[in-house]
Amino acid sequence: SDAELHRRIEAAKEKLGGRAVILGHFYQRDEVIRHADFVGDSFQLAKAAKSKPDAEAIIFCGVHFMAETADLLSGPDQAVVLPNLAAGCSMADMADIDSVTACWGQLTELFGSEPDDDGRLPVIPVTYMNSSAALKGFCGENGGIVCTSSNAAAVLEWAFERGRRVLFFPDQHLGRNTAKAMGIPLEAMPTWNPRLALGGNTVEQLRQSRVLLWNGFCSVHKRFTVAQIEKARADFPGVRVIVHPECPMPVVDAADEAGSTDYILKAIDAAPDGSTFAIGTEINMVNRLAAQYPQHTIFCLDPVICPCSTMYRIHPGYLAWVLEGLVRGEVLNRITVPATVAVPARTALERMLAARP
Ligand code: 13P
Ligand code: SF4
Repeated sequence: SDAELHRRIEAAKEKLGGRAVILGHFYQRDEVIRHADFVGDSFQLAKAAKSKPDAEAIIFCGVHFMAETADLLSGPDQAVVLPNLAAGCSMADMADIDSVTACWGQLTELFGSEPDDDGRLPVIPVTYMNSSAALKGFCGENGGIVCTSSNAAAVLEWAFERGRRVLFFPDQHLGRNTAKAMGIPLEAMPTWNPRLALGGNTVEQLRQSRVLLWNGFCSVHKRFTVAQIEKARADFPGVRVIVHPECPMPVVDAADEAGSTDYILKAIDAAPDGSTFAIGTEINMVNRLAAQYPQHTIFCLDPVICPCSTMYRIHPGYLAWVLEGLVRGEVLNRITVPATVAVPARTALERMLAARP
């Protein structure tokens, strides 16, 4: 039962003392979040993994790419544990190292790989945090960088200082929304379809491009629509609509604001009592905010339940299982990035941390 699992988790945590630290992403279910030592968005969790050197184990309640990132940023003797190895991310799976390498080959053939007169490279690869460690390594090796939804604009600025254009993967929406807000015209942002030659573009389109957008997307955030925003505005005049930048561009344009999960939390926290918010992000987070801020009216734009099904795979039963394993001295479900990938992936992550500390 839930109560029994809760008791087992608490008992194991107590036995472990400070030897294990539990990190939880905002999209985790409440039954997991209640046990987390630190809760945050993907950027904050990456920094948290780097700042817990005393813990022997970091139990990462989130998805696979986040646990890989925690392994890259934590100490060599710390074990990062993902309670359920099936907790992946469908968006991260939309860009694999072979297709990105093939894309890179076509771009290099077209543009070369030498810097121009002002020292800028033809293309800088930028990967969203929501990607495999292999792709972070690819960026590290090719002059690129990682971004999250909370620092994408700062990272694109970094990239444009060093390159004429950016290859952005896997999330087309975060890339498009961020570049558009920076004033880059839509015509200069072709989408790259890895199944087609030149990604489905003409040579001229690629030459004119500033940001090449991989055609990945988040299945949770692509569900939000402009019609939902119009309905929220009709039903609640004065409502403040905030959506995650993984939502499609028309949805971000129709909203009042777009920002990472932490941005949404801070906006709600700073609002005067009695505010009304319609939120376009994962349901566990929205429901928790509604419970934590009863002085406001907070609801999800999508009337149909929209959890991230892979985040939801971290059931408290798995958390109890890995913690009890640690109590017995057994490290279960350890995530380890091989050194050949880890070295360049760390380079790309450290560039991100330096671009926005
Ligand atoms: P953030 O935590 O960066 O807001 O990202 C949301 C998300 O989709 C994580 O998978
Ligand atoms: Fe991936 Fe979307 Fe789930 Fe985030 S919310 S883990 S991007 S599927």
